[in-house]
Amino acid sequence: MDGRILSLFYICIGFIWWFSMFTFGLPVTILFILSKNIRSVFFSWVYATIIEPIQRKKLDVTRKKLFQILEDSLGNRDNSVPLEVLEIGVGHGPNLKFYPENCNLTVLDKHKFFEKEFSKNKKKYPHVSYQKTVIQPAECMRGVDDNSFDVVVSTFLHCSCDDSVAVLQEVKRVLKPEGKYLFSDHTGFPEGDIGLYIQRFFNPLWSLFFDGCHLDRNVSRKIKEAGFSDVQLQKHVSRGFKMYLLRHHILGIATK
Ligand SMILES: C[S@@+](CC[C@H](N)C(=O)[O-])C[C@H]1O[C@@H](n2cnc3c(N)ncnc32)[C@H](O)[C@@H]1O
Repeated sequence: MDGRILSLFYICIGFIWWFSMFTFGLPVTILFILSKNIRSVFFSWVYATIIEPIQRKKLDVTRKKLFQILEDSLGNRDNSVPLEVLEIGVGHGPNLKFYPENCNLTVLDKHKFFEKEFSKNKKKYPHVSYQKTVIQPAECMRGVDDNSFDVVVSTFLHCSCDDSVAVLQEVKRVLKPEGKYLFSDHTGFPEGDIGLYIQRFFNPLWSLFFDGCHLDRNVSRKIKEAGFSDVQLQKHVSRGFKMYLLRHHILGIATK
């Protein structure tokens, strides 16, 4: 579909969504505004049972690519020594199947609502040695020691966390010297692109119904400015009509 028609189409969808949520959808909107728990329970359920499974085929291509970057960066790793890994914003654990052999995996999420699905999922991947779950915001990982992990992983966390700068400082704190931070996220359209204004038009409703997720964040800039000794970052743009609002992606690896 031509880019201008696509933009126009999404502007119309945006107007219809705003209109619905402030007319016949108003009770639901108010409920979501008033209750953080409802927002989180709703999103955990919708993400783990509908959104991620529908997008799995596509997302798994990105996840596979991401973990290949990790494998490449580890070079001739001695597989007999376990790799100490922390995944932050783990959700129901869609990355588990991509972990390399002999990982000791600690997971962290700000919500406990994903735990049931994560527990089911982790049984399918016995090659990962699960250590423990920490329920804490990644901005302040109390109880996670300094310099304790070889690798920290996050996928689709920066779009919804409260403070990426604080998260990145915590990632650096818990990584061992030379430790790796593996990341992937969706990001905003480039400055000046009409897509960015459309994302901003959707943002308040999107964020309300998808538990604080923002469409327009410039995650790559935050990672580049976080003070890692090296950042290898790739940008990807998905074409097609369905993924318009989530078209821009980054993935990569940073070294402490
Ligand atoms: C969109 S889901 C992504 C789940 C999974 N990482 C994936 O790739 O599909 C975002 C996850 O990050 C968690 N999250 C968001 N902000 C967080 C924060 N500040 N600290 C820890 N977890 C957070 C959410 O609870 C949710 O599990």
